[in-house]
Amino acid sequence: MYLCIKNALHLEALVDLVIEDEHIVTMVPAGHQPQPENCEIFDAGGLVLMPSFIDAHAHLREPGFEYKETIATGLHAAAHGGFGAVMCMANTRPVNDTAAVTNLMLSQAQKSHPHGPRLYPIAAATKNLEGRELAPMAELKEAGCVAVSNDGRPIQSTEIMRRVMEYAADFSLTVIDHCEDPTLADHWVMNEGEISGLLGVKGQPAVGEALQAARDIMLAEYLHLPVHIAHVSSALTVDIIAWGKARGISVTAETCPHYLLLDDSALEGYNSQCKVSPPLRTKKDRDALIKAVADGTIDILVTDHAPHALHEKMTALDQALVGFSGLDLAVTLTWGLVKEHLLPEDALHRLWARRPGEIFHLPTNGFAPGDPADFFLFDPHENWVPSEQNLYSKGKNTPFLGQELSGRVKHHWLHGKMIF
Ligand code: DOR
Ligand code: ZN
Repeated sequence: MYLCIKNALHLEALVDLVIEDEHIVTMVPAGHQPQPENCEIFDAGGLVLMPSFIDAHAHLREPGFEYKETIATGLHAAAHGGFGAVMCMANTRPVNDTAAVTNLMLSQAQKSHPHGPRLYPIAAATKNLEGRELAPMAELKEAGCVAVSNDGRPIQSTEIMRRVMEYAADFSLTVIDHCEDPTLADHWVMNEGEISGLLGVKGQPAVGEALQAARDIMLAEYLHLPVHIAHVSSALTVDIIAWGKARGISVTAETCPHYLLLDDSALEGYNSQCKVSPPLRTKKDRDALIKAVADGTIDILVTDHAPHALHEKMTALDQALVGFSGLDLAVTLTWGLVKEHLLPEDALHRLWARRPGEIFHLPTNGFAPGDPADFFLFDPHENWVPSEQNLYSKGKNTPFLGQELSGRVKHHWLHGKMIF
């Protein structure tokens, strides 16, 4: 069975896309080629066509914290947010450090979303994320984990980090490291700087992130092994990554939309909705991060989707939990950077689809014949206001709640099937 998506805007050119079952057949300039017989037609009416995105870093909270999010609700938000694949972090309860937990995650995804978005669990790097004993990576890989990470609980011991990298490499699992020096980050609530000083609250300095990233990158060079630096938040860490790349070290890195759009001035007024780990840094950091995603020093974008119940966020700054709900809004927010000419449109495909696919060995759609028919249509002109009612995630904890945004995902196909 053929399907033709007519009159879609792909990188500013009007195209027709033909798919057969689960795969791309061809993409041609609109109206230039007759459709095959028995072809169902969908008129895109000039909407923007993008490949389904991969979110290589999300917290879906199941098992253990289902009141914040479940795999079903997280994948539902992902589908409506333009994501065809989600890699979920291991800080569940119990932690994803056994095949039993990985199996449970995968079976919940299969039950609720048999046609996708696909779920790819990330295994804990160490048992119970305690940073002491390695997790059983062979069994976790066999169960379906695609990477390992101690996200949320940085690995303090360099010796353990070394063993994690060596052991993970035996199973071709990429190590994703949350870089933070916990001794510099005791009881922090935000970035350490002018604003934390004015507010009179405890900050954590960006140098702690850069120190751990430097450690990891030097280990990667010494061991001839890869490392992936999670949610980079500071200009100094960007410089360290650029240094590693220039030396030919196998280092890749990610950042999140919020580090490109917000800075620590958002916490003025003690706004606990803007508390996240790592914290929002300064305007200078934000500018350096935008430059780094544009020039490829930072390889990919991720949401770090961290849903929490509102009562866990709408409390005193020092009590509030860290993290933002991200899956619903990521495409809209990063499209804003394209609109402001800070990123070319093609960079979104690279940062959200092509590079994460390469780094984590996941299928992606490059619109070439035979590619998976995973794509969505986006209306760049629709203005809307995210609210507790229209976000699909259970997590309503985003600093963008109630703000008018422009651009919205309208339809999404996975495996050639329209999922909405
Ligand atoms: O903001 C964050 N929230 N950063 C993390 O590293 C963990 C995450 C969470 O699990 O809530
Ligand atoms: Zn995270």
